[in-house]
Amino acid sequence: MKVARTLSVALVGAEGEIVEIEADLSNQTPDFKIIGLPDKALAEAVQRVHNACANSDLALPRRRLTINLSPASLPKHGSGFDVAIATVAVATEIAMNADSVASTVHLGELGLDGRLRPIPGILPAVLAAARAGHKRIVVPFANTQEAQLVDGVEILGAINLAQVASWHGADVCVPDEEPITLAAASDSTAATDTIPDLTDVVGQRDAVNALIAAAAGGHHLLMCGPPGAGKTMLARRLPGILPPLGDRAALAVASIRSLSGTRVVDLDRNAPFEAPHHSASVAALVGGGSRIVRPGAIARATEGILFLDEAGEFQASALDALRQPLESGTITINRAGLSAEFPAKFQLVLATNPCPCGDYGIRGGNCTCPPAAIRRYLGRLSGPLLDRIDIELTLARVSVAQRRSEVVAVSTSEARLRVAEARARAAQRLIDTRWQLNAEIPGSWLRDGPRSPSPTVRRPLDVALRKGAITLRGFDRVLRLAWTLADLDGKAQLGLDHIGRALFLKKGMAL
Ligand SMILES: Nc1ncnc2c1ncn2[C@@H]1O[C@H](COP(=O)(O)OP(=O)(O)O)[C@@H](O)[C@H]1O
Ligand SMILES: [Mg+2]
Ligand SMILES: [Zn+2]
Repeated sequence: MKVARTLSVALVGAEGEIVEIEADLSNQTPDFKIIGLPDKALAEAVQRVHNACANSDLALPRRRLTINLSPASLPKHGSGFDVAIATVAVATEIAMNADSVASTVHLGELGLDGRLRPIPGILPAVLAAARAGHKRIVVPFANTQEAQLVDGVEILGAINLAQVASWHGADVCVPDEEPITLAAASDSTAATDTIPDLTDVVGQRDAVNALIAAAAGGHHLLMCGPPGAGKTMLARRLPGILPPLGDRAALAVASIRSLSGTRVVDLDRNAPFEAPHHSASVAALVGGGSRIVRPGAIARATEGILFLDEAGEFQASALDALRQPLESGTITINRAGLSAEFPAKFQLVLATNPCPCGDYGIRGGNCTCPPAAIRRYLGRLSGPLLDRIDIELTLARVSVAQRRSEVVAVSTSEARLRVAEARARAAQRLIDTRWQLNAEIPGSWLRDGPRSPSPTVRRPLDVALRKGAITLRGFDRVLRLAWTLADLDGKAQLGLDHIGRALFLKKGMAL
């Protein structure tokens, strides 16, 4: 064959695009060149492909071999094109089924010995290939399970290059080798079946109800209270009451994990829970990396919860990084000549002390923080961040007496059921709109849309607005939350009591 063709996938952020790979053989001085915007790692592919072929008894032609990756405009990174490049290169020299080579998508890195090495991002790459209508995909053996999460495609998990060539009809001897596997990376999902139960929480009825409302409406939540009030305890119980992820969301979450280099073997239906420490760097939150762009905590929280504990302690630049995702549901990483976008549709939960020492405004407390320090502490959270938060909850410590009293606690399974029912009701009400959760509804639609509250129901809010007790933004937030309370009550209309309780739930902080 003078010219051979095959397919691979280039990943830009979490999106994959099909890349066509062509090998052209000409009768000139022997050479081996790759063209089509290759980065450094791709140039190294020349070396890997050379050695891998030599060590697989697949001789490369001793003439001029040019490999072209197109579209040239697409940035191509990393080592995932090795197998495709080696396959087309060999196909110019050794008899193979050209149609089979041309119609198969090849993903994977080559070791110098000719074995296929697993790569991050197999799942989004296979998804992209499947969506582009390709039916047969070669992946490194260690990535087989992950690739098989995608329906409707045939996955061939290859141990070595000779095996790939023989699948395409080459007459080669396939060595009986052990596949390369990577040690199971730290598995962020390992802890999900040990989500603690809400029954552990004694008292704190308002806080538990607020947590249920946050889950039901998808509302961002801020908890403010002294150390030991149970903020962290409550936040960790939120993922347990969220509904299981649907197929699309579960695949999106698994794709991000795959790009992070986490081993993905099945679809996790639990909502992600990301809790970066306040000392985390902006890069750890946003993502980055030199060879391939890895998603950070913000992207890993997509379809789930991003919990910033001790939120007042985060760097201002870290909190700033939340703005774009809160606005658009995506996070963009810009690096020289490249911009990668990842999904970042998370529910934000912030927990903070009221001041650096934690005692400010607490009965019997003994706060010695200067007023300027208190303002600065909470000021970090103000502005654009707080604009997005529908529920501001103030917590007090539960006294020992309360802890002993026998109030029946709400269990996680009861709460999960209430959340699921409320969400179903909201989805039904919003069926003609592009929103599913109350938190997504814009203020104008709440105030003036087809389901706007009657003048009687909105009167307390109008009065509060006129008196300057709430802002228009606060007005919208109360309405949004009131709808969630109505959904939890099983009511199709907003009532005065929902408005009243919503006002109570967000009475919290005077920021
Ligand atoms: N309402 C409560 N019911 C049961 N235990 C509680 C409650 N509030 C606090 N605790 C206990 O106090 C500890 C500290 O709570 P934590 O959630 O870390 O507080 P915070 O994050 O507000 O400082 C928890 O580990 C828990 O054992
Ligand atoms: Mg805490
Ligand atoms: Zn203080």
